[in-house]
Formats: sequence, C-alpha cells, structure tokens
Amino acid sequence: MIDTKAEILIVDDELVICKSCEKIFKRSGHNTTYATGGVEALNILETREFDVVFTDLKMMDMGGMEVLRTVRQKYPDTLVVIITGYATIASAVETMRYGAFDYLPKPFTPAELIAVLNKALEKRKIIKITSNKYNYCHETGFEGLIGRSKEMCEVYDMIRKVGETDSTVLIIGESGTGKDLTAKAIHNVSKRKNEKYIPIDVSTLSSGILESELFGHVKGAFTGAYTSKEGLFEAADKGTVFLDEIGNLPLETQSRLLRVLQQKEIIPVGSTDVKKVDVRLIFATNSDLKQLVMSNKFREDLYYRINVFPIKLPPLRVRREDIPDLALHFLRHYCVLSERVVPEMDVEAMEILMNFHWPGNVRELEHTMERLTILSDGPVITPAHVSAAIYKADAPMKSAPRTVEELKQIKKQMRDYSIQEIEKMFIIDALMRNNWNISQAAREVNMQRPNFQALMKKYGIKKPVTGV
Ligand SMILES: Nc1ncnc2c1ncn2[C@@H]1O[C@H](COP(=O)(O)OP(=O)(O)OP(=O)(O)O)[C@@H](O)[C@H]1O
Ligand SMILES: [Mg+2]
Repeated sequence: MIDTKAEILIVDDELVICKSCEKIFKRSGHNTTYATGGVEALNILETREFDVVFTDLKMMDMGGMEVLRTVRQKYPDTLVVIITGYATIASAVETMRYGAFDYLPKPFTPAELIAVLNKALEKRKIIKITSNKYNYCHETGFEGLIGRSKEMCEVYDMIRKVGETDSTVLIIGESGTGKDLTAKAIHNVSKRKNEKYIPIDVSTLSSGILESELFGHVKGAFTGAYTSKEGLFEAADKGTVFLDEIGNLPLETQSRLLRVLQQKEIIPVGSTDVKKVDVRLIFATNSDLKQLVMSNKFREDLYYRINVFPIKLPPLRVRREDIPDLALHFLRHYCVLSERVVPEMDVEAMEILMNFHWPGNVRELEHTMERLTILSDGPVITPAHVSAAIYKADAPMKSAPRTVEELKQIKKQMRDYSIQEIEKMFIIDALMRNNWNISQAAREVNMQRPNFQALMKKYGIKKPVTGV
C-alpha cells in the first residue's frame, strides 16, 4: 500500500549525486526535486510538502544536520534520510538521535537507495494515518461504529440505505467485528428509531425457553406457566428485534420464525390465537448459514427469507487503517472510566497494534486497550507496554497464564519483554477475569491473598473507579 507517487527532495552540493538520485527515483515514478545547498533546500521545503528528504551531511553553506533539525521542527511528518560520504558510525548515531529516519553511506547502489525510500514510504503511510490521532469517534465513524476505511464506509452506506427501508437484514461477520453495533445502528437510522430495540442472543437459551421468550405463552402452556406472558415480538411492536447467533436456532423454532417473516404474525406457545406483529427483524451470524442449510441444520426457506439484505462486516485485519482510530477511542474511553490522564501513543507502539492480526477483531483490540490503560504508568504508551498487553497471542501458550507455574514458563520464553510488564499483566488479567475480586483472583492463580495484594501494590494496580 505504498503511495505510488512520492514527493522527494534531494539535497547535495555535488550536482552529479542530485542528478543520479533524481534519475533513479524518477524511474520508479516518483516526483523528485533537488537542491545543491541547505539554504536552497529550506526555501523549497517552504513551498510544498515532501514525503522524504535525502540530504548530504557535509555541505558548504549549511550542513545536513541543520536541514534535519529544521525539517523535524517545521515539518515533523516529513522523513529525513542522511546520505554522506563521511560515513562513520558516530555520525550515523548522531543523526538518528536527532530524528533522521535512516542513514545511507556513499557510495550506494540504486537498489539500496530505493530500498531506503520504500522503507521510508511505509513509515510515512503509518504517520499519515496516526497523525489524525486527535479526531475521536464522532468524526471518524458512524452511529457508534468507528473506522473510516473504505470497507467500513461501504458498511455505513449499506446501513444508511437499508435503514430507510423495512427490509430484513442479515449481518455476517467474525466474532468481535461489530455485529451488535451494526444492528443497533440500523435501528437508530430507521423510522423505528423511537420505538423499542430488543436484542436477543438465541444461542444462550434452550429451545423451549426461547420460544416462550420470543412468542410468549398462555397460562398452563407448560409446567410452571402459571400466568400468560407476552413474548418479545409483541413487546417490540413497531420496533426492531435483533436475533443474534441465528445459526444456533433450533429447527422447531425456525418454522415459527418463518411465520413471523412471512405473515407478520405469531402464535404464543400453548395458544391457537394468531396475533399480528409489526417488527423489523435483523439477524446476525458468524457461521456459514449456507453450509448449515446443506447439512440440514437450517431451513432453506428461512435462509432465503432472512438473506434479503446481507451486510458483511470485514475482519479488522483487512482494514488495519482503522486500528489507530479504534485504539485511541478505547484508550480514551477506559482512561475516562478509571479517571486517568489519557497517555500519548508512541508511533512505534501504534505500529505494533497495526501489524497484529487480531483474531478476536475489534473486541480483542478493545480488551487490549483496556489492559494498556491499566498497564501504562507514564504519559506515553511505549512498544514495550503494547508487547506486554498482547503478549498472549504471541506466546506459545496462546492464552494468558493462569497459574504461577505458567507465568514462570512464559517469563522464560519471553525474554524480550520486561518481566515486570508480564508480571503486572498477569495480575491485571487475573483481576479482570474475576471482576476485580481480589480473593477470587488470588485463588484462581493459586496465590496467597497477601502475596497477590503485595504485587498489586508493587505495580500500583487499583480497581478502576467506575468498574471495568
Ligand atoms: N467499528 C467499531 N467501532 C467501535 N467499537 C466497535 C466496533 N466494532 C466492534 N466494536 C466493539 O467491539 C466489541 C464487540 O463488538 P460486537 O459485540 O458488536 O461484535 P460482534 O460481531 O457482535 O461479536 P460476537 O460475534 O462475538 O457477538 C463491542 O464492545 C463493540 O462496542
Ligand atoms: Mg454479537
């Protein structure tokens, strides 16, 4: 995803170097300008934005160091690569310390020059995305959904379009991609927005209970039905019902549901009375319904009825440019909840988040940011913090250590990470799993409560004020 056409400025008092670099860059399709001195370079820099500046270190009028300093100060998003014939390790380190992106000793080959440029452009891409870091959710998303990738904009477009209709919607997406949020967004933009919105996860209820929940029952319909009860479809009259995890719907319930879709009517359990209902139905699934139809676990006629307007939610790994917006939103949200000052996110820390594959999608990113809120103790979130917060996924164990033995094992395997960070995470994770109940958390990880509490104190871990 490197920008195909970059703006490059070459600064060198040897005209032949400028010309040859220009030729190499132009051959790769980039816009190239050159200056044969530092002063001229600064004048050109004032006229437009450059992606990368390649500057010689030793020049007659103004040294490359001075060019570097000015660029860092006035145009912090422009990257500077130092080229010099006086290559020494010391000067390389020095320029990097002052914010040079990279260092290229003369003589270099065209391939080396292009390789440095490509690396710089990759970095530019990340800087461009993260430089909008202070635009929070309301400007970067839609109805509570955050992200401005092309993929998400298409989703917003579909939500808007289907929101104007009363059509049945099927939301398809991996776990944690935002199916619940999407369903609510559809309701919020529809003409039913002031009516009830009732979400129900069909996988959490057994078949019998589910039917009576959805369609209601009459007195004496089954043992324990002492009174009649209104179902959710009736309760949501004129509003929206969101049926989540539809792939888990038992076959018996599927035929009752078909009736709602076809005739807009329900029959409460144990009754023969038909009742008209006016509800908009939204379904969601993370399983392949077609596959379920083929294996006779899902009625084909129902499948066609609910698959009228499918909305596919893209997994987070195919829209990595949304990660900074989401990460900063969650960071802010959890800091506000726990009354903490919102720390800055280091660019490299953000890069780690952007490069991770997020099997649990946005939910997993959200949990990671929640952990980072507790983990970070200074004004900046560093790569080390992020590595510790997502170490679980990279750890050979694939899950958080749940015992002191496992923790020791992880510590041994993860020598690159700070032991303190991992230990702190271990305590935080145990607390979060146990709703911040210290005794319970200590018990779960097989530690004495006083020892557990001592570690909490050592790392300054406190229960967030408004509950997490
Ligand atoms: N685009 C998004 N913007 C902001 N928050 C999001 C987004 N997508 C998901 N989330 C958040 O991530 C978490 C998971 O989202 P949601 O419950 O909607 O996912 P889901 O697809 O329904 O997952 P599951 O299949 O596990 O039910 C929620 O806390 C939600 O607020
Ligand atoms: Mg869900």
